[in-house]
Amino acid sequence: MERVVSGIRATGQLHIGHLVGVLQNYLKLQEEYQSFFFIADLHALTTNYEHTEILKGNRVEVMLDMLSVGLDPQKCTLFVQSEVPEHTYLHLLLSMIVPLPWVERNTTVKEMIRDLDLKENASYGLLGYPILMTTDIIIYKAHYVPVGKDQLPHLEIAREIVRRFNGLYGELFVEPHALLTEFPNVPGVDGRKMSKSLDNDIKIADSEELTKIRIMSAVTDPEKVRLHDKGHPSVCTVFKYHLIFNRSEVDAIKSDCEDGEIGCVACKKQLAEKVNERMRPIREKRERLSHEKDKVIDIFDEGSKKARKIAGQTLEKALNLMKLK
Ligand code: TRP
Repeated sequence: MERVVSGIRATGQLHIGHLVGVLQNYLKLQEEYQSFFFIADLHALTTNYEHTEILKGNRVEVMLDMLSVGLDPQKCTLFVQSEVPEHTYLHLLLSMIVPLPWVERNTTVKEMIRDLDLKENASYGLLGYPILMTTDIIIYKAHYVPVGKDQLPHLEIAREIVRRFNGLYGELFVEPHALLTEFPNVPGVDGRKMSKSLDNDIKIADSEELTKIRIMSAVTDPEKVRLHDKGHPSVCTVFKYHLIFNRSEVDAIKSDCEDGEIGCVACKKQLAEKVNERMRPIREKRERLSHEKDKVIDIFDEGSKKARKIAGQTLEKALNLMKLK
């Protein structure tokens, strides 16, 4: 069976954008591929190295999110990146053979430096972000990597590194390809990109009350001020959510809005119910699991052991080919 690898940067609880974009995709993949899904806590260090005290807690939160949406340790391998130290060893070996311009031209890393305003605080480790990501993938000889468009430059480097290594030392690694998923666009409640740092997100773990409050505060069509004003769903954030979470009523809502038959308050209330309905079983499961954290951590420990076996074999072969053994 072909292999898939994908990681989630552990920077805190996941939101519903992760759910419909990343996690739902994982659910499908665990049925179709030999899948490895992991918490990229070392990658979190590339920008959060000053706040390592929150890493441990974040890791458990992401574990809870991953399990509560239905990722199943019987169907996929769930693990923690830092629990598989073979990644770091291979990362170092690869870093020796990667020409500097390959990492310097990486647009996604450049954007991270710009967006986070890192300037001279951008670390050597951040520059190596794509090499660490390459390691995560090729150490399992994965064929496919489900990612969003922003990650394509990293995969390009991954393939170049594979060719370079195989050319220098002998055939070992497999060139990975992106499984580009057209993620539905889930904006934040303020209409910008949904993100924790913009404080405009709805978390998987949020309560129904908080979900409702967030949705009631969402921006809508600025031209629709009064209930009977005619609205423009195409520019409305709330409508974008209806498209994803309320498919059965979305056509009626569209025409009611355009005809000035429904006001934004009612429309948001309807949406909040749908989102909460959809999230309820996930949140109930998450609540149950949160009382069994030891069991949750055990699942990822077991997965990390399984991952280490495979990663260790690949590392061993790489060391042999490089005449380091
Ligand atoms: N860079 C990825 C992201 O920000 C996270 C990641 C780290 C990853 N290692 C990976 C994704 C390996 C896929 C495969 O989303």
